[in-house]
Amino acid sequence: MRNLLSVKNLKKVYKYKNKTIEAVRGISFEVNQGEIIAFLGPNGAGKTTTIKSICGLVLPTSGEINVCGYSPKKEPHKVAKKLGVILEGNRNILWKLDVVENIEYFAMRRGIGKKEAKKIAYELTEKLNLKDKIGIPTERLSRGMQQKVALGASLAHKPQLLLLDEPTLGLDYEASQFIVEYIKKLKYENKGILITTHQLDIAEKVADRILIIDKGKIIIDKNLDILKKEFQKKKLMISFEHNDLDLVKNKLSMYKNKYVLNADKKEIEIYFNDSIEIYEIIEILKPLKISKIHTHTPNLEEIFISIRGR
Ligand SMILES: Nc1ncnc2c1ncn2[C@@H]1O[C@H](COP(=O)(O)OP(=O)(O)OP(=O)(O)O)[C@@H](O)[C@H]1O
Ligand SMILES: [Mg+2]
Repeated sequence: MRNLLSVKNLKKVYKYKNKTIEAVRGISFEVNQGEIIAFLGPNGAGKTTTIKSICGLVLPTSGEINVCGYSPKKEPHKVAKKLGVILEGNRNILWKLDVVENIEYFAMRRGIGKKEAKKIAYELTEKLNLKDKIGIPTERLSRGMQQKVALGASLAHKPQLLLLDEPTLGLDYEASQFIVEYIKKLKYENKGILITTHQLDIAEKVADRILIIDKGKIIIDKNLDILKKEFQKKKLMISFEHNDLDLVKNKLSMYKNKYVLNADKKEIEIYFNDSIEIYEIIEILKPLKISKIHTHTPNLEEIFISIRGR
């Protein structure tokens, strides 16, 4: 798998008046071809700072960044040709231009000839389902349509690496879904994609790998399926044939903080640290009639909450 982005020991300290803000504190990660990475983390964690450092809009305090073999600091024009970006907010496109003109403009700015740029612009407009919006300035389109134009503009010069900072922010289900499906297809064109979002359901739909940053440090960098399996192992649901959950409570007095009772379903959820603990718990519960034992595959939101809780 060819490497498209490598970030090594990236640090960014902002200085504002007499304050210093350590936004990014020595992070390292990679993005490879055909890989979609969800870059997650709470507000202020350092996601946008990282993305801006990769596209050369923020000068890192230290560390190394390499985009398809080029340095954003030393070879900004070469990096710009390899990189497609949607930045946070709505300054990604030109408001007076329509969809085709926007895509054409951004393609030409990154070195593509006029004829080819026009061809690309029409192709992308069609793929983005925006043909009926040709001739309308982007400022007069809905937010979802504007975001599609921004995606088109970011793809105009056929970049290998895409950095998308909250591309579905404020979009309705259908528009978000469209962007998610579009991004997923790009993976099969061997592009690498780094996407930030606070919508964990979207991250779960789109990502192969989850990268979580918190207070400027990477706390998780893992394949989504592996992450789910790891968290799945730690939770077991046990259902009983009877309704007497007080009996269960008595039995489990030693494990007070480790389970949640769900009286409606005659079920308990038990969290455990290792497999020895499961045997102990089952042993204690043995005299009771158990009707079902199953594991629960956590969704990304549950995983995220429990990681943040640590
Ligand atoms: N230009 C700046 N000058 C000073 N401090 C800044 C600047 N830009 C960002 N910061 C600070 O750096 C930290 C990280 O901000 P950043 O925008 O990278 O976070 P984020 O993870 O993108 O958050 P969000 O999810 O809210 O978009 C914050 O404490 C922020 O206040
Ligand atoms: Mg941000």
